[in-house]
Amino acid sequence: MLQVENVKRSFKSGDITVSAVNDVSFTVPDGQFASIIGKSGSGKSTLLSLLGALDKPTSGSITIDGKDIAKMNDHALIGYRCQKIGFVFQSYNLVPNLTALENVMLPMEFAKVGKKERTDRAVKLLEQVGLTEDQMTRKPGKLSGGQQQRVSIARALANKPKLILADEPTGNLDSQTGKMVFDLLHNLAKSEDTTIVTVTHDLSIADKTDRTFQLQDGKLTEVK
Ligand SMILES: Nc1ncnc2c1ncn2[C@@H]1O[C@H](COP(=O)(O)OP(=O)(O)OP(=O)(O)O)[C@@H](O)[C@H]1O
Ligand SMILES: [Mg+2]
Repeated sequence: MLQVENVKRSFKSGDITVSAVNDVSFTVPDGQFASIIGKSGSGKSTLLSLLGALDKPTSGSITIDGKDIAKMNDHALIGYRCQKIGFVFQSYNLVPNLTALENVMLPMEFAKVGKKERTDRAVKLLEQVGLTEDQMTRKPGKLSGGQQQRVSIARALANKPKLILADEPTGNLDSQTGKMVFDLLHNLAKSEDTTIVTVTHDLSIADKTDRTFQLQDGKLTEVK
């Protein structure tokens, strides 16, 4: 379960303070798929960075799997991000000089999973997302956008995370490929009881998630 309580994140530049996330509270139970919509600059990426422990809130608490990540030290956070959270980005963020298979194996290497096990699991995940054996041996530059995003989903699932965070995961894809990637994320997460929070501009995608929240000037409301 993800529990966010009275979270604020403000940025100071000169005399001005921007409240990018302003007193946000919500809860997402295990296995639920939530979407966050909102205009550009409304605080979506800032909130997602806080949930992923890439940034710390100015105040408030974020509890994932019973632990308040706002209170963890940097060393604990590195392990935490690696073990508990899977990230999917609009721009895929794959390592360009590694093959698809090696990209999926990488987070397991950080988590000190043995070579045989990481190879087997990476192959299984890539098969699940629909990559062929030949495609697995290619570097990201030789795969289509949709295939790269499927690799990044397989990578996000590598360490069996409790929480998957996705920032515009279908933003660079045509609508049909976007729908396929979305369905894939949905099905994989349901089968592993993973909580997903996705930011999207696409209302037809938001409409298909279990819950939808809207951010407006850093304030969050539930719209579905
Ligand atoms: N590091 C920073 N320093 C100062 N201001 C920031 C910083 N990061 C974000 N902001 C400000 O916080 C607000 C929210 O930004 P954020 O990136 O979260 O928006 P967003 O909803 O993700 O927008 P988009 O849809 O364009 O990606 C914006 O006004 C932005 O300028
Ligand atoms: Mg953003």
